[in-house]
Amino acid sequence: MSTFHPLRVTSVERLTDDAVAVTLAVPAPLRTAFRSSPGQHIALRRRDGEGREIRRTYSLCGPAREAPEELRIGIRGVAGGEFSTYAVKELAVGDVVEALPPSGRFILEPRPGRFAAVVGGSGITPVLSIATTLLEREPEARFCLIRSDRSAASTMFLEDVADLKDRFPGRFQLVTALSREEQQAGLPTGRLDERRLTSLLPALVPVDEVDGWYLCGPLGLVEGASRALRGLNVPRARIHQEIFHAEEIPATATASGSATESAARDRAAATVLATLDGRSGTWPMDDGESVLETVLRNRADAPYACKGGVCGTCRVRLVSGEVRMDRNYALEPEELDAGYVLACQSHPLTSAVEVDFDA
Ligand code: FES
Repeated sequence: MSTFHPLRVTSVERLTDDAVAVTLAVPAPLRTAFRSSPGQHIALRRRDGEGREIRRTYSLCGPAREAPEELRIGIRGVAGGEFSTYAVKELAVGDVVEALPPSGRFILEPRPGRFAAVVGGSGITPVLSIATTLLEREPEARFCLIRSDRSAASTMFLEDVADLKDRFPGRFQLVTALSREEQQAGLPTGRLDERRLTSLLPALVPVDEVDGWYLCGPLGLVEGASRALRGLNVPRARIHQEIFHAEEIPATATASGSATESAARDRAAATVLATLDGRSGTWPMDDGESVLETVLRNRADAPYACKGGVCGTCRVRLVSGEVRMDRNYALEPEELDAGYVLACQSHPLTSAVEVDFDA
């Protein structure tokens, strides 16, 4: 699960001034390992000029396949982004990138029903895979996509989404809101915030008949859409969300209070027992380290990507002991209830913790 594989770039398509779609060939022996569910992402890594390893996750945008011959991902350049700037400006056909097999739980396995998504900016990427796979495989499914962006020129995958409209006219509904453009016929303008979504969504779909809502994009949009849906009495279990860009999230977003934090600091002598790919080890933690950092000092193959509580690549099951997480934008409530935590965000509250990366 935690092994990087070299994949060759077979195509780089420019989507906007600052975004590309990159296609990677998957060699035959790796196709089973790179099987994906619609909505998943892959982690890529490279070394910068000083030999520092940089990892980022990028969502797959193509339809999910059992044994994919290729994978297509969407990459938008972010200001100062160490990986995305390289990908958007330098990556070329014939280059080789190192990738982890697909992971992530922001997924929709095709099934009959009515589904909807609210996305902003590059949040369209996993939802394009979700909608395409669903409509191709499940004739009894419908999908409503509500997307927002700054302008038509900055909108990723315009043609791919238009293609879905042409192929599935009776089952795919599209609403686009552009925040920096004059009103066009039938299109709402301005930001999609909680207030606007609360009035817009019931006008678009029978909200209580939607079997699954998929929210993806910047933190503000996803949280606003989630609050709007909860206000419209949508059960929490039907709302799935994925945040993009760990950098924009305040570090204290889900910290659990100063008393707990000082308790965590007092655990400088804590030890971590970790199981990874069937092998276990016990290591002392340095003061202030996360569980992931301790494991990485001893097992370089421990899986991670964002280190920001967003991608979920570092998910582990907490076998014993207690931890505090700085923030969590990756795990659903059911996963927390089942004992999963993010190793990159976890600090011990007990003198020993045991985690299982394989669970
Ligand atoms: S590495 Fe991304 S959530 Fe931990």
